[in-house]
Amino acid sequence: MIFDPITVCNLDLQNRFVRSATHEFMAEKDGKPTSRLGDLYEELAKKEVGLIITGYSYVLPGGQSDIYQQGIYEDRFIEPYTKITEGVHRYRSKIVLQMVHGGRQATASDEYPVPMAPSEIKDGHSAVVPREMTEQEILEVIEAFTKAAIRAKKAGFDGVQLHCAHGFLLSNFISPYTNRRTDLWGGSVENRARLVTEIVRRIKEQAGADFPILVKMNATDGFRPSSQKAEMGINILQVMETAKILERAGVCAIEVSGGISEAGGVTIRTAINSPAKEAYFREYSKAIKKAVNIPVILVGGIRSLSVMEHLLEEGFADLISMSRSFICEPDLVLKLKSGEAKKARCVSCNLCFDLEGVRCNFEFK
Ligand SMILES: Cc1cc2nc3c(=O)[nH]c(=O)nc-3n(C[C@H](O)[C@H](O)[C@H](O)COP(=O)(O)O)c2cc1C
Repeated sequence: MIFDPITVCNLDLQNRFVRSATHEFMAEKDGKPTSRLGDLYEELAKKEVGLIITGYSYVLPGGQSDIYQQGIYEDRFIEPYTKITEGVHRYRSKIVLQMVHGGRQATASDEYPVPMAPSEIKDGHSAVVPREMTEQEILEVIEAFTKAAIRAKKAGFDGVQLHCAHGFLLSNFISPYTNRRTDLWGGSVENRARLVTEIVRRIKEQAGADFPILVKMNATDGFRPSSQKAEMGINILQVMETAKILERAGVCAIEVSGGISEAGGVTIRTAINSPAKEAYFREYSKAIKKAVNIPVILVGGIRSLSVMEHLLEEGFADLISMSRSFICEPDLVLKLKSGEAKKARCVSCNLCFDLEGVRCNFEFK
């Protein structure tokens, strides 16, 4: 099943493998994408990854949250991105640009000393207290995502993915833990999703109703179950309702992830060394799949072919997404297809975060 074609968001994919968004540390300091990024994506395309999602690209300079992160905040980025999508489209893969604003987890700089967020809730991980956004700033963020999507379309991307996970701005709005607003942008599930649905509405108006908009969303903030923070955070019923709202707004696929940095070690778990530890968000994606009719993509510690097939056959997900496995083995799809391998080699050590460019730094014996 995993090797069978599937149509997602009007895109004909050669198989159900997705390369999950992975910050590559390969852009220039101002966010300009480099040819190294193009080479990396082209290699994945050559090696038959059905859908490639780029590393997170910031839509406003103040929304940067990592060094050498790619940007999409100015028109001058269209040209280098065009070269990148052309490289991928020499093969049968599709490529989608992930767009983000760092929000509460944005990097403080001289120009942007205090990160902005829906509410002033101290980040227990970084100790940063963000400032509450004004209505005007919310409208500016909607415009920034819209303009970024138009740039992505001009650059030849097959669609965009809104990063609504991992504690960045859009997930800050969706989660009641980080969003305590009492205006139109906070309170009910619908209000908390409004920033995302407004972005979707504006992109559809400006980039065309057919331009695919995918979402990566958090199914949990990741706090310890039954802890006070978990009680204040998003629960699965709210997540399912949010997913329905996003589907109604025109989102065409949902990738399920989880965790904000304050919760610590939830998103990119280490020591995935048995099938039972794989696919650690599987129960969440199963619940979301029940709530919506659009395809659901599952990410998080998926390593074995047998687990992948099980997830697809038993209705946990429609597509299988991986990050670290493709850092370690860009040719993983071909190895699984030929029978050369039954599982990814990745040992989930997280040594791949490398300022000189993402790479597998584990020393295999
Ligand atoms: C080096 C690295 C960079 C990442 N960058 C992003 C990113 O830009 N956007 C995103 O949504 N997730 C990012 N992630 C998270 C992955 O997409 C994925 O959700 C997570 O690693 C779990 O999947 P895996 O077990 O297949 O690696 C990153 C993960 C790694 C290891």
